[in-house]
Amino acid sequence: KKRIGVLTSGGDCAGLNATIRAIVNRAVVTYGWEVVGIKGATNGLMTTPPEYIDLHLSKVESLLTKGGTLLGTTNKGEKRLEECLDLIVENYHRLGLHALIGIGGDGSLAILHRIAKYGNINFVGIPKTIDNDVYLTEYAIGYQTAVNVATEALDRLHSTAESHERIMILEVMGRDAGHIALNAGIAGGAHIILIPEIPYNIENVCRKIAERKQHGFNHTVMIVSEAVYTRNGTCRVGKIGQFFADMITELTGIDTRVTVLGHVQRGGMPSPADRILASSFGVAAVDLIAQENYNKIVAWQNHQVVPVPIEEATGKIRIVDPHDTLVKTAVGLGIYIGEHEG
Ligand code: F6P
Repeated sequence: KKRIGVLTSGGDCAGLNATIRAIVNRAVVTYGWEVVGIKGATNGLMTTPPEYIDLHLSKVESLLTKGGTLLGTTNKGEKRLEECLDLIVENYHRLGLHALIGIGGDGSLAILHRIAKYGNINFVGIPKTIDNDVYLTEYAIGYQTAVNVATEALDRLHSTAESHERIMILEVMGRDAGHIALNAGIAGGAHIILIPEIPYNIENVCRKIAERKQHGFNHTVMIVSEAVYTRNGTCRVGKIGQFFADMITELTGIDTRVTVLGHVQRGGMPSPADRILASSFGVAAVDLIAQENYNKIVAWQNHQVVPVPIEEATGKIRIVDPHDTLVKTAVGLGIYIGEHEG
């Protein structure tokens, strides 16, 4: 009877538990295997004895809609890694594992791949991240829920912006990629979208606000990705919204307020789209193990789940292409999205 391990690594997001559920259902019901959940990302394999839980069907029965991860996670996993490599591999064997599934973002998947190569571990990766920046997959788990949350925040900011004739700035996550801001910005009817991939000009931001006034609108809703660079090039993650608010108030004299959405984007129930993605990825990852097709991540491409070699999918990230069709859509809607080229 085969025994496989699963762990979640990196920042959490909605849909991790749904993925664990899919893995356990597929492995136990279809293949009759056992599944072991490693606790706290790779930390669970860095202790003696290893920390894990047996994932019986009953453990995952109600996981589909639950936020977070039953197994716990960390995005600070690298620190002790080098000194613990042998212990990790030893624990993998001590648990009698035949293969390991790691659910993680770009960084975690690269680390897990390194461990797998070092210890000759049969590894399959599943991409998750609200940033949606894992290379070669159109969607990663957690992203579509984050877009929903950011869209709802924009929907709510519109009415209060209008009541008070204010400029409302929503700062969203995304690390170096602007996918959340671009997609939620369009879905939530933002008038200005700033993403790290497209440089902005503050005079043109203010011009957009003035233009709206000329059309009779005394309020503006703006979404800013956390990694948008300031003019002097300094990345102001966590402060970028306020940075713009101060500048805009100074230049326009209009009352401006900032909402930093933060970890609300990561917590809580996954959207239907993320439940579907998590379920598809979980099933496909177990199937790859059944086929002994290792060192792959499962990726979403053209409505198909496909295996992609890990080394092709890590080490670089998928950012917004300034020529992306959604950038054109934003421009077409009259949204100011920075100094785009055509
Ligand atoms: O990568 C996911 C993410 O939520 C980023 O969007 C954000 O920059 C970062 O993690 C926040 O990390 P932490 O949870 O450590 O504050």
